[in-house]
Amino acid sequence: MYTNQFSTSPDPENTIPCSYNPLTDEAEAPASDRRSIKVILSTLLSGVFLLALVMVLIGDQRSEDPTVVAVKGDYQPYSSSKTSEILKPAKVSRGVSEGVSEKTYRLFSAEDGASFPWSNLMLSWQRTAFHFQPENNWMNDPNGPLYYKGWYHLFYQYNPDGAVWGNITWGHAVSKDLIHWLYLPLAMIPDQWYDINGVWTGSATQLPDGSIVVLYTGSTDKMVQVQNLAYPADPSDPLLLRWAKYPGNPVIIPPPGIGSLDFRDPTTAWFTPDGKWRLTVGSKFHKTGISLVYQTTNFTTYDLVDGVLHAVPGTGMWECVDFFPVSTTDENGLDTSVNGPGVKHVLKASLDDTKEDYYALGTYYVENDTWIPDNPVADVGIGMIYDYGNFYASKTFYDQSKQRRVLWGWIGETDSENADIEKGWASVQSIPRVVTFDHKTRSNILQWPVKETESLRLSSDEFDKVEVPAGSVVPLNVSTATQLDIIAEFVVDNASLEGTGTIEADGGYDCSTSGGAAGRGALGPFGLLVLADKSLAEQTPVYFYIAKDIDGHLKTFFCADESRSSLANDVGKHVYGSLVPVLDGEKLTMRLLVDHSIVESFAQGGRTVITSRVYPTEAIYGAARVFLFNNATGASVTASLKIWQMNSAFIHPYSNEQEM
Ligand SMILES: *[C@@H]1O[C@H](CO)[C@@H](O)[C@H](O)[C@H]1NC(C)=O
Ligand SMILES: *[C@@H]1O[C@H](CO)[C@@H](O)[C@H](O)[C@H]1NC(C)=O
Ligand SMILES: *[C@@H]1O[C@H](CO)[C@@H](O)[C@H](O)[C@H]1NC(C)=O
Ligand SMILES: *[C@@H]1O[C@H](CO)[C@@H](O)[C@H](O)[C@H]1NC(C)=O
Ligand SMILES: *[C@@H]1O[C@H](CO)[C@@H](O)[C@H](O)[C@H]1NC(C)=O
Ligand SMILES: *[C@@H]1O[C@H](CO)[C@@H](O)[C@H](O)[C@H]1NC(C)=O
Repeated sequence: MYTNQFSTSPDPENTIPCSYNPLTDEAEAPASDRRSIKVILSTLLSGVFLLALVMVLIGDQRSEDPTVVAVKGDYQPYSSSKTSEILKPAKVSRGVSEGVSEKTYRLFSAEDGASFPWSNLMLSWQRTAFHFQPENNWMNDPNGPLYYKGWYHLFYQYNPDGAVWGNITWGHAVSKDLIHWLYLPLAMIPDQWYDINGVWTGSATQLPDGSIVVLYTGSTDKMVQVQNLAYPADPSDPLLLRWAKYPGNPVIIPPPGIGSLDFRDPTTAWFTPDGKWRLTVGSKFHKTGISLVYQTTNFTTYDLVDGVLHAVPGTGMWECVDFFPVSTTDENGLDTSVNGPGVKHVLKASLDDTKEDYYALGTYYVENDTWIPDNPVADVGIGMIYDYGNFYASKTFYDQSKQRRVLWGWIGETDSENADIEKGWASVQSIPRVVTFDHKTRSNILQWPVKETESLRLSSDEFDKVEVPAGSVVPLNVSTATQLDIIAEFVVDNASLEGTGTIEADGGYDCSTSGGAAGRGALGPFGLLVLADKSLAEQTPVYFYIAKDIDGHLKTFFCADESRSSLANDVGKHVYGSLVPVLDGEKLTMRLLVDHSIVESFAQGGRTVITSRVYPTEAIYGAARVFLFNNATGASVTASLKIWQMNSAFIHPYSNEQEM
């Protein structure tokens, strides 16, 4: 059984001296690839896995074209849908030269010197009211979320010095309910040789005795990615204000054959029947995304397990891997160490190449530390995405106080860096979402805003069975439309669904390439226009599109169209979305959380989710409206809605006197 030895008496003999030599040989140079593979094959791998990996790598060689970043398999239904307007790369790249993914939004349409004249009024409107964001400056990945002695803790990648990526520390905030937050002092800053270039992403593990360990990636003085151990300096403090770094750090260095810039973001550890803890760290060989497994008994000494948890050719670097069980029999969430009958495991990887969080459901075999997807054609990186919009580097934690698994994701900016600097902040965290197995489809997870979100609901307006004829737009009379929780249900008349007049050759419908809300078909698009001004010059449509095959078979898509979300020319505008499973007898339902420049949209109880980051210039403050629309040519739609005004969350610096 684990005991918390390191926090009291770190073993000096176990301490790696600071003269630690970075693995310069393993740098990303293509010339070293062949040797790297040989090294890893001969030193790390064994038996059946070796054969499997060789096959993976051989498969991988075929797609070695360095310009190809596509990761899509043949799997159509869930193919990712992102396009953007055209675009000029931003001048400053941040992150890549230091060995992490690009942090600057690189695509926007403004010509040099012709960026939109943003006013202070417009920029200040963008700040959200009930999403978590720091008081100012840059934020990215959520880190080490946990519940401890009555408080939820959120740490996050944070630049205390500016609104662009750099100087990364762990920001820290606490909450009693995941909605109202108190900012605390920085938890960890880059002050050791093993993290001097950044205290990067990591995860917390709660041990059976209640104590907490954190593993995080440090970028060393030589920019090598290593895994470090930290723990609360005063475990009796519910706020966990002070953190200690283990004197023996780093505890894990890149193994032979793994690039020193390709080894980051350790997961929460899980306990296995052999009495050891396991955790996984994302990496890549060539273009094969992989997840390495380590075992430990005391969190100070680790052994690399033979083989990998999983590998998918062509998917590139896996960042922010997350690995957790879901119950196939119950609604409650599961602690990370739970396995056995009635359990499936979700494996999630954030794909550096595409900036999307792909996941798949499968089975974890503890006897050989491998995970096998239920559906190989929808494997990690080629199948389902948590959120088809702007949502990346996500992480779950098990909330033992409410027996649920909660997901956080980073919502980045798609405006220019100049605008971020002007407004003084960049990025938002998603509303925390409960993750469950979808007991109806049995092939995907569901994501749903935590129940506590509803505590912000104020007055509501209800609209019952509003007729939305083909080709129409219907205004919804709500007092203001910048902070909303909307639940909407749509019914398409049977005659159109069943009639033969609506059969179209749109079996290949794709949200991103089929014209957005202006691409009219027989049975769609229809849905809501949010953050729209009264002339509809600006609007963000969120909608369903039903595609009908020649054989009459229906497929439903859920999409969000940013192409007219802003009159500004210097922001990214994507049309996002994917297929959403709709079972017999189910109505079409969507829930939207509108919070100034963020719209989080959930279809069919959270089977398909899209987060939109939008920057309206007219549809702001009192000018923002909400409409129903139906741009189908052959179907009348009836909509019933409930729309709540949402209160602002209380998000403030902590002061000692304060009670929440
Ligand atoms: C941790 O466990 C390893 C392997 O059992 C052992 O060699 C090492 O000394 C332990 N470290 C500490 C600090 O107890
Ligand atoms: C791991 O074990 C499972 C179940 O016995 C088996 O199906 C799978 O092939 C094994 N994987 C490897 C890489 O040996
Ligand atoms: C990092 O911190 C240094 C020192 O405070 C500062 O000069 C620099 O501008 C910061 N870099 C970024 C990207 O914020
Ligand atoms: C819209 O709401 C306002 C205030 O509740 C009300 O006075 C007005 O009659 C409503 N208009 C319509 C068209 O329902
Ligand atoms: C429409 O179809 C559903 C399911 O087939 C059926 O239950 C319902 O009665 C039909 N409604 C009408 C108006 O025909
Ligand atoms: C509906 O489609 C037409 C024609 O493509 C387009 O002009 C209009 O803007 C669309 N309506 C909405 C709400 O997108």
